[in-house]
Amino acid sequence: MPLISFKKNHVSFEVAPGANLMKSLLEAGLPVASSCDGDGVCAKCKIQILEGAENLSAENDTEQFLKEKNNLAKNIRISCQTEVHGDVKVDASYW
Ligand code: FES
Repeated sequence: MPLISFKKNHVSFEVAPGANLMKSLLEAGLPVASSCDGDGVCAKCKIQILEGAENLSAENDTEQFLKEKNNLAKNIRISCQTEVHGDVKVDASYW
């Protein structure tokens, strides 16, 4: 089972392979910024990937558009558009 862990002092947790990153974080009780509720419009759900980027789904067209439009760094993922297939370590500026 893929493990999501954190740079800061949050408890790591396992998710089902292919789990949505944003939903997984919310279910674990971590706040994820959003004004479109995961519809791939706002880009506020961006999450920094510190380790395990290769264990995430490839960026879809929606994510590529949002990242380009918002000038987001390569290690930032739009969490509502991202699936978790292996261990990752993540961070967000507001955690
Ligand atoms: S929640 Fe709006 S783009 Fe992800």
